[in-house]
Amino acid sequence: MHEEKLQTEDPVDRHLDNRSLKRTAKQDAGWRLLANPAKTRILFDGGARSGKTILVIEYMVMRALRFPGSRQLIARKHRVHAYASIWRDTLSSFLRDYMPTKCYRKRETRLLSVEFDNGSLIVIEGLDSEERVDKLLGNEYVTVFVNEARQTTWPMVQLLITRLAQQVTDKDGKECLQKLILDTNPAGPRHWIHRMAIDRVYPDSLEPLPDADEWGRLNWSAYDNKEHLPKAFLKAMEALPAVERDRMLHGKWVQNEGLVYTNFDSCLVEDGGTIDSRIIGPAGNLYGGIDWGFNNPFCALVAALDHDDVLWVYRCRYKRRTSLGLHAKKIPHDVIYFADPSGADQIAEMRRADHVIWRAPNSIMAGIAAVTARIRDGRLKILNIPEMQPLIQEAYGYAYPESQDTEKPEDRDNHAMDALRYLVAGVDRGRTALLWEDEADEKTQELSTVHKTHNRYAPAAASEAAQRSQRLPDDRPQDDDPNWMAADNDELWEDI
Ligand SMILES: Nc1ncnc2c1ncn2[C@@H]1O[C@H](COP(=O)(O)OP(=O)(O)OP(=O)(O)O)[C@@H](O)[C@H]1O
Ligand SMILES: [Mg+2]
Repeated sequence: MHEEKLQTEDPVDRHLDNRSLKRTAKQDAGWRLLANPAKTRILFDGGARSGKTILVIEYMVMRALRFPGSRQLIARKHRVHAYASIWRDTLSSFLRDYMPTKCYRKRETRLLSVEFDNGSLIVIEGLDSEERVDKLLGNEYVTVFVNEARQTTWPMVQLLITRLAQQVTDKDGKECLQKLILDTNPAGPRHWIHRMAIDRVYPDSLEPLPDADEWGRLNWSAYDNKEHLPKAFLKAMEALPAVERDRMLHGKWVQNEGLVYTNFDSCLVEDGGTIDSRIIGPAGNLYGGIDWGFNNPFCALVAALDHDDVLWVYRCRYKRRTSLGLHAKKIPHDVIYFADPSGADQIAEMRRADHVIWRAPNSIMAGIAAVTARIRDGRLKILNIPEMQPLIQEAYGYAYPESQDTEKPEDRDNHAMDALRYLVAGVDRGRTALLWEDEADEKTQELSTVHKTHNRYAPAAASEAAQRSQRLPDDRPQDDDPNWMAADNDELWEDI
């Protein structure tokens, strides 16, 4: 295998302590992968303290020395973590211990950076503010290293890849290859990193990656670095609960046992085409679930209820920073929506836009129980198509906090999960006594009476949706001036 020569050539040698990092066998393999010119997308995934990050830092310092004027980025989701873990810890100790020749300056201003005498630069930054990301995107780099990459999103990494464009050469005129490097502890096997770097498919469409050959991956275990770790650390890792032990000690991508919907795989249906024509035909069988959001994503799901009481979820609108007026235009009519009951104003706006929309039962426990019951007996089907990926991705991370005994899942990445809960709880209201808890909306009670009588929503849905869609404009609620404070007046919404 032809490799970039990084460690042996002048001027690199001049600045390196003879004692330089004595690599473990795993780090030798990692170095070969980093230096392989055929691999420009590299993943180091594995257990805690296994020696991944320090090796990437060494590689980046070598590149800085070999390619004068080169610019490299170390990014992590949160700046505070980038500061504590990279700036104060790994990078500083590497420079202190292995670079006796002072050929660099560390700058700790608004931007954290290391400037080398040859004009090379390593920048350390967090991706948690738009301003910071915009600033980073104003430059080109030869290396982008995303540390603890599972905390960031694939769209963010895609943005960073667009800046891998700097062209620099070494003293012999040899060009520096642009490289993306990710390091991470493992998560669940449906995480975007697993899809991209291990399955080699796009995380949203699941289509094969066209540049699959450029990806290289090395899986690490904490045991790979045992000569540099206290015995007590490995002992503590061995005593972890199974899932955490598999991930943090052995570096395996395993499902979190705290998952709310453990059998979610069983709902996924691969063939969307036949379902469309068979089930989504009849009028009056469409239901939706909505979770409101502006800075957080707004999520609306649409599902068809068939004659066997199977709910087929086949549409998903998942967008942030978009006006309610636009959502109202984009989501389909002739659907009975059940929405987050705390959004009274939003519900009113949607009704003005001629949507049939009801407050969903709000009990998290009861909603989860209703979804779980449908998953268990095969009455919930979710189309595994690109449009539904936000929901599918969330489901694989929707979990109870691992260290607490609670019935409430972690309150993050749960927008499609909430919309699904509202949808199913709305459709199944009246079957599950618990769903009536904390219900005070008389209109939902009214609708539910119809539901109980028919033991199914479909007839009620059909007549309700039909009445709505036939309503004349002057039959609409007149309580607000639609030309001014209406949410679909886009002038009211500022892009932040
Ligand atoms: N070859 C080496 N020589 C000396 N110390 C090393 C070597 N490799 C790793 N270490 C030390 O082992 C510890 C863990 O290394 P590192 O931070 O690179 O691991 P990691 O895989 O990135 O861990 P995490 O997943 O927790 O971020 C650090 O203190 C580091 O300095
Ligand atoms: Mg690390």
